[in-house]
Amino acid sequence: RIASLKLRQILDSRGRPTVEADVILNDGSMGRASVPSGASTGKYEARELRDGDVDSYEGYGVQAVIAKALQACEGQLQGVDALDQSAVDATLRWIDGTPDYGRVGANPILALSLATARAAAAHVRRPLHRYLSSLVPGLLPSLPMPMTNILSGGAHANGGMDFQDFLAMPIGATTYSQGLEWIARVRSAAARLMAQEGRVTLLADEGGLSPGFEAAEQALTLMVRAIEAARLRPGHDMAIAIDVAASQLYVEQRHCYHLHRAGRDLTPDEMMSHVFDLCGRYPILSVEDPFDQDDWQAWQSFTHKMAERSLQLVGDDLFATNVQRLATGIERRVANAVLIKVNQNGTLSGTLDVIALARKAGYATVVSARSGETEDSFIADLAVAAGAGQIKIGSVRNSERQSKYNQLLRIEEEGTLTLAAFMRQ
Ligand code: PGA
Ligand code: ZN
Repeated sequence: RIASLKLRQILDSRGRPTVEADVILNDGSMGRASVPSGASTGKYEARELRDGDVDSYEGYGVQAVIAKALQACEGQLQGVDALDQSAVDATLRWIDGTPDYGRVGANPILALSLATARAAAAHVRRPLHRYLSSLVPGLLPSLPMPMTNILSGGAHANGGMDFQDFLAMPIGATTYSQGLEWIARVRSAAARLMAQEGRVTLLADEGGLSPGFEAAEQALTLMVRAIEAARLRPGHDMAIAIDVAASQLYVEQRHCYHLHRAGRDLTPDEMMSHVFDLCGRYPILSVEDPFDQDDWQAWQSFTHKMAERSLQLVGDDLFATNVQRLATGIERRVANAVLIKVNQNGTLSGTLDVIALARKAGYATVVSARSGETEDSFIADLAVAAGAGQIKIGSVRNSERQSKYNQLLRIEEEGTLTLAAFMRQ
């Protein structure tokens, strides 16, 4: 049972405050977890609260949020069975009382939810991923296929390229560690090619390179060249994924997407043809958020148009790791995959419900980090336990990303799990 809680303000990878929780059980078992924060945040995400005091971390501080959350949660959580994660999360939901955790804040709520699961795993003396898989009956644990950021734009690269992410997926790898090695090779080949061309190789928020290309074609051409320079076959060993993060480009008044680097506006139809054309010309296997989070119509037509190509269509801002939004998408046959971000949802149980619904409907799942991360590796264990199939945690350069990549290496070392094959969901 939960005996006591602690919440503290720590810093994330952008140097901004975030919340860390310690949950201590009666027998002294302790669990600690911290929460990430997005930059290209969707409208339908659970609400992250900040103090707004401009004299402390430019308003991003969370000290007051933490004090309030502790007061609201401490008495209610004490005595709750930590092994009953649904009861813990139902209590958190009840304490907050709003659908988006806007009263207490999704940031302290999620930290407490995850820290409790860690404390429970410590109590039963099991590795976190084994404990988590006992919470998700019927999902077969596996090592996730990485979808790794190589080139960055959008909100992650100070307004660099129009599309947010160009990613590599080692679809031909037979083990997780082989896939990781291939990715590292492609990453350094891309940096080398850019340096040879006299381009800056500065890093974006997720550790991706930020070449600031004007056209998506230039970024995709560089991706293909980097894959070849790494002695891998584009489309066979290594495929490309893109995250357009189109909600960031959308101009509501004109119902269009503003590509400021390319210097043009695209109507939803033009965006559709543009992405369709890119997918025909480059070995792209996965497309995330090509339209605004409210443009169900465009999503629906695009999903229909793409049906004959075996392409993964991922909803991130569109679904916001929210059961109702995913249910709507399934009903309207929109997309065929869902990005899973724990802090979009707010609790561990809520996130597991979204994964279960996706699985039932045959939608693929990609467990994802945020652009602002901490060294917490919880989502690596979660991706394994839920048999999510894929993981998207940024580039292989910064420690807040490596903590997850390296945790997967440790889990691989146990020798009982195999790498999930892409699209074999
Ligand atoms: P975010 O970006 O964490 O800044 O929202 C990640 C993504 O869009 O997938
Ligand atoms: Zn995204």
